[in-house]
Amino acid sequence: LSGFERDPETQQARLGSVNLSALLAANPRRTPAYVYDLDGIEAGARALVESLRPRDLVAYALKANSAGSIVRRIARAGCGADVVSGGELELALGAGIPARKIVMSGVAKSDGEIDLALARGIRALQVESLEELARSIARASAAGKVARVSVRINPGVEVDTHAHIATGHAAAKFGVAAAEWPRVAALLASTQAAKLVGISAHVGSSLKTTEPYLASARVVCDVCKDWQKRGLAPEFLDFGGGFGIDYGAGNISAQPRDFARAALELLASQGLDALELVVEPGRSLVGPFGVLVAAVIQSKLTDSGRWLMLDAGMNDLIRPALYGARHRIEPLARLPDEPSWRVVGPICESTDDFGMHDLGPSAPDYVVIRDAGAYGFTLASEYNGRALPAEVFLSAGKVESISASPGVAAWVERRLRA
Ligand code: LLP
Repeated sequence: LSGFERDPETQQARLGSVNLSALLAANPRRTPAYVYDLDGIEAGARALVESLRPRDLVAYALKANSAGSIVRRIARAGCGADVVSGGELELALGAGIPARKIVMSGVAKSDGEIDLALARGIRALQVESLEELARSIARASAAGKVARVSVRINPGVEVDTHAHIATGHAAAKFGVAAAEWPRVAALLASTQAAKLVGISAHVGSSLKTTEPYLASARVVCDVCKDWQKRGLAPEFLDFGGGFGIDYGAGNISAQPRDFARAALELLASQGLDALELVVEPGRSLVGPFGVLVAAVIQSKLTDSGRWLMLDAGMNDLIRPALYGARHRIEPLARLPDEPSWRVVGPICESTDDFGMHDLGPSAPDYVVIRDAGAYGFTLASEYNGRALPAEVFLSAGKVESISASPGVAAWVERRLRA
């Protein structure tokens, strides 16, 4: 259950106690490849489940990583899922997550997705607007069903994170705005075709402390107490996900269990601990347990410095290009060392740039891009005619399975047919 580490004698990179150089030697021409430590993922998920009460739910945000091998392990640890599309809903069910442990979020669910959620009998459709609540009620009535609805409120809380991943401020497209809360409550109180089962919020991603999470959760509690007075009776409160991980800057002060403890303490202090708690972490359950292994194509020395060109680019891992995110990049077979190199991918875009990294006096053959288990593969694309990367799943010190890259020939064939 080791995650990323270095062999104490040879300094070679290991993941889940598997030597990554040896792994590559046994699987040549398999880069770029995501490699995941399934045992680490399962242990982390189980620890979070066990830090809550038996009736609470860890709804894993499947968008972070939807590989079946990973979702099955997370299910085995007792987690449910937070899904945002019909595709993710079917994947969660197929991976063995019971419908009653699945919540569905999303600002623009299609009628087909609402119908699917109703047919499968999930724990809650998280509605994000008055209009969507009305549409869900209409779909449920037409199908002769009662929609289990959770209202995702917009808590109006500002978060210190990248603007692209802040979701809980008043100007965001997410959640029901405060001005609409009374109308939503009135509609729920007056319909037979929907039952309010929960109230939820998600304030943003990559949270460094529990403060913004609690600020948003307090608003959820206030809304809950107000709606209880109006005769509504939610079963659960869902404070969302967003637990940050340490990408190497050492600026994360709260672990998943700290968010869980803070949430339970808040429920108790608000007199709401009879309700179930739902949390929706994605990144923190998978991010630290995945790496992207890339081969070095060549170096390039110019007046502006040393460049290192990888076979992995922004099509494989877009976080640096999209959010200015920094992922540690290290040689596979030795420790990071000066001098620094500017590490870039093969894509014809200037943003295909992973930043400056200490890779040593000579160019390594392979590098490992750390903390890539979340929002890596799920955001990958085939831009520039490149195939999606391979994925390797490790367990008990061995390769459990490999999901091969579809390959470039498949891309050529499909695009020619288009
Ligand atoms: N719940 C909802 C409603 C969400 O929108 C999200 C993430 C989560 C839970 C899970 O948040 P997490 O625990 O993973 O922070 N692609 C970006 C992150 C986008 C997050 C979108 N929503 C990145 O790579 O940083």
